Amino acid sequence: MTSGGTVTSEGAVPSEGAVTSEGAVGGRWARHRVAERVRGAWHAVTAGDVDLSVSVGSVALPNPVMTASGTAGHGDELQAYFPLGDLGAVVVKSLSVAPWPGNRAPRVHQSGTGMINSVGLQGPGIGAWLDHDLPALAATGARVVVSIWGQRVEDFAKAAAELSGVPGITAVEVNVSCPNLEDRRRMFAHSPSATAEVVAAVGEHCPGLPRWAKLSPTVADLAEVAGAALGAGAEAVTLVNTVLAMAIDIERRRPVLGSGPGGGGLSGPAVHPVAVRAVFDVRAAHPDATVIGVGGVMSGRDAVELIMAGADAVQVGTATFRDPRAPVRILRELETWCADHGVRRVRELRGVAHG
Ligand SMILES: Cc1cc2nc3c(=O)[nH]c(=O)nc-3n(C[C@H](O)[C@H](O)[C@H](O)COP(=O)(O)O)c2cc1C
Repeated sequence: MTSGGTVTSEGAVPSEGAVTSEGAVGGRWARHRVAERVRGAWHAVTAGDVDLSVSVGSVALPNPVMTASGTAGHGDELQAYFPLGDLGAVVVKSLSVAPWPGNRAPRVHQSGTGMINSVGLQGPGIGAWLDHDLPALAATGARVVVSIWGQRVEDFAKAAAELSGVPGITAVEVNVSCPNLEDRRRMFAHSPSATAEVVAAVGEHCPGLPRWAKLSPTVADLAEVAGAALGAGAEAVTLVNTVLAMAIDIERRRPVLGSGPGGGGLSGPAVHPVAVRAVFDVRAAHPDATVIGVGGVMSGRDAVELIMAGADAVQVGTATFRDPRAPVRILRELETWCADHGVRRVRELRGVAHG
């Protein structure tokens, strides 16, 4: 029921100005005023009161919003738009042990409500990144999560070894959504055993650094792959990487993107429901696991949805291409949503959609 002369199913409600005392308009109006008072108390949370802190495994973060790997540069590029230390964490683009050129152009294609990319994990290599990018990024006060990738288990192990003992790194996100040269270029993330092998190898070579496993949604049983990653020592699973996709230029009769076979990965609003389902299913199968939700988070409401599905934290990717300030805007929208809905701790929302 609303106040102010509105007609509802309960009949005409007098306007505020017409009421001199609650008793004068009978019991229904009195009940309305009581309800308004209760609602007032419920709304009494202001944005600044909301406790946004979360834990991702052993890592305590001041809030649950991070950048998604590959969409916020390798270093402090976004610091020009907002203080990177304001976010929960900054996840850098996946790095391999050696420099990697990535794929041929064109690498990005707008497709409906999504974007297909075939950037191909271009990067300077971990050594150069440690020398040239990490110092500036760490100086911003950001919590830095390094994403690593490889084409063999051994590549992941070498990449991890380079990170071992390096100060200024909060966690390593192991991107297993890349082709395994030792298994007919099948994605590591498409095999529970290959995923476990990689996560274990990373743990052996950089003990003490929390490991998060970034998984692909393009599998028959994501909960099984997540279980394998967690069993091998991942403190969290990051769900999801891009969805395998392709666009064809019908005039040229060829794939649009320049990667070898022409395929790419779909991201943005189109994949949001895929991410919500992935987070929901993995939370149901592994109630105690830490889950990071990523996929089409364009607003605070999208972040709320992933958290209600079971995410402890979220990452913002494609939205950053449209608006470089998107991660911090989404953080503020999440905070405001919590305040408007009387949620004092964002952690209270985790998994509530499971009933
Ligand atoms: C251009 C581009 C590059 C990406 N590069 C990486 C990467 O290097 N490593 C990785 O784990 N994910 C990478 N991703 C996947 C994103 O981190 C994210 O999982 C995915 O895009 C879904 O989130 P979004 O819809 O918010 O973008 C990339 C995505 C895009 C669009």
